[in-house]
This record gives sequence, structure tokens and C-alpha cells, in this order.
Amino acid sequence: MKTVLLLAGTAEARALAAECGSGLRLIASLAGVTEKPVSYPCAVRTGGFGGIDGMRAFIEDEKVKAVVDATHPFAVTISANACAACDMKKTPLVRLVRPAWEPVGDWCGFADLADAVAALPIGARVLATTGRKEMRVLAERADIRVVLRSVDPPDALPGHMVSLAARGPFTVMSEMALMREYRITHLLTRNAGGESRARIDAAAALGITLHIVERPVIPAANSVSNVADALEWLSDVLRD
Ligand SMILES: NC(=O)c1ccc[n+]([C@@H]2O[C@H](COP(=O)([O-])OP(=O)(O)OC[C@H]3O[C@@H](n4cnc5c(N)ncnc54)[C@H](OP(=O)(O)O)[C@@H]3O)[C@@H](O)[C@H]2O)c1
Repeated sequence: MKTVLLLAGTAEARALAAECGSGLRLIASLAGVTEKPVSYPCAVRTGGFGGIDGMRAFIEDEKVKAVVDATHPFAVTISANACAACDMKKTPLVRLVRPAWEPVGDWCGFADLADAVAALPIGARVLATTGRKEMRVLAERADIRVVLRSVDPPDALPGHMVSLAARGPFTVMSEMALMREYRITHLLTRNAGGESRARIDAAAALGITLHIVERPVIPAANSVSNVADALEWLSDVLRD
């Protein structure tokens, strides 16, 4: 049975694992950053590989025939490492990446989080869904109020920030209710793309300003935008 490495941690990776069938040996790889990760219907390995060399060694040891990089569009390092490791081993690689969102409402795009936060006006009441890793830059803005939503709550926050631990999917109605409850004036989020756009539509509907961190540049790789195309790519490269 041929082995496929699935770089995971997203809804797309779980959907691909669910639809893959039993004709191949699929190993999903998780970074191990989420305390209670959603389960996968296939073998799972957890934790970093140890950079490009570590991933290359894994590909060799497990006789991996193809790699699907279905990591988050903002997970730059792992995607770059996959390109380099697969290139060295001449292992076929495809990137499964959901399409970015098109601008809606009062949309202000920024190249990075620091710029998006710097542009928030004094007194803004911000719903931030940028993840707890990025909280440091928000912690420095004591002149605004922040509701920080993340899957796992941060250990401690300064007085101008409150934590909301929650895992989607969310609906436009529930997002609008949350934004009204906290009298949100600005949504700070990344252009993650795909289905989870309820917060974007809710903010646009309420006239809330969107501070959007646009997508980082990731080394070019073969790309598909949905699970069906990724499965077709897999069946092509594993055919012989
Ligand atoms: N960034 C986000 O906003 C976001 C959102 C939702 C889900 N996720 C998921 O969370 C994971 C970590 O995201 P990140 O932004 O911290 O990634 P990153 O900055 O690109 O990666 C940092 C390091 O974490 C390890 N790593 C990342 N993803 C891995 C995976 N799927 N399997 C094994 N090791 C992995 C690698 O360590 P080594 O160098 O030691 O191999 C990598 O160098 C990703 O798998 C991503 O799909 C990220």
C-alpha cells in the first residue's frame, strides 16, 4: 500500500482524510499546538519534524510516495519546509489551499498583523481572531479594548483584553450577536479564506470596519483549492 503524508491541522485536511478511502496508507501530521485536536480517520503523527532535514528523513523512512500540504494558509514555515524537503527527495507535492476571501464592506487590507494593529484608532473595540500566538502586539495597545477569540485560551491577558475560548464553525447570526454584545467597532482577522467567513459577513452587515491581514507569500508549489482536486491529483501521481 502506498504511503501519503498529509500535513494537516485544517478542516480541508480532515475532509481529505475522510474521503481518501482505504486504498492507501495515509499519515496525517499535526504540529501538536492545539490541546484537544479534532480526531482523524487515519494514522496520526504529532509534533514538528525538526525542520527540512527532519521532514526529508521522515519521507525516506516511511517511504512516502506523495505529500499533500493542507496546512493553514498562514502556516508559512511548514509549507516552505515541505517544498524544500519534497524538492530534495523528488517527492510529488501538492498544496491544498482554500481560496482567499474577496473584500466586502469596510475592508482595509494590511501586509502583516503589526500594520493592521497599528492602524486601529484609539478607543476602538476590537474582536480579534488572529490567534493567541499573536496576542503580544495587541497587548501593547492599552488604548483600545480587545476581545481575543482563540481555540485555546491564553494564560494571562492585560486589563484591556478579554479572552473568549471557542472553536467554530460560527454562524453569521451568532457572530452578529457577539459583535453587538461587545459593541465591537473593528474586526481584526486574517484572510484565511474558505467556508469560515461568518465573521466577515457579520462585520460587513453591521458596518464594522474590517482590518484584514492579507495572505503571506509562500513558495510556489503545485496548488489545488478543493479536496476533490487534491484526490484527483493523488490518484494521478500514485497511478503506476
Ligand atoms: N497559522 C494559523 O493561523 C493556523 C490556523 C489553524 C490551523 N493551523 C495549523 O496549526 C499548525 C501550526 O501552524 P503554524 O502557523 O504554527 O505553522 P508554521 O509556523 O508554518 O510552523 C512552525 C513549525 O511547526 C511545525 N509544524 C507546523 N505544522 C506542522 C504539521 N502539520 N505537522 C508537523 N509539524 C508542523 C514545524 O516544525 P518543524 O520545523 O520542527 O518540522 C514548523 O516548522 C499547522 O499545521 C497549521 O495547519 C495554523
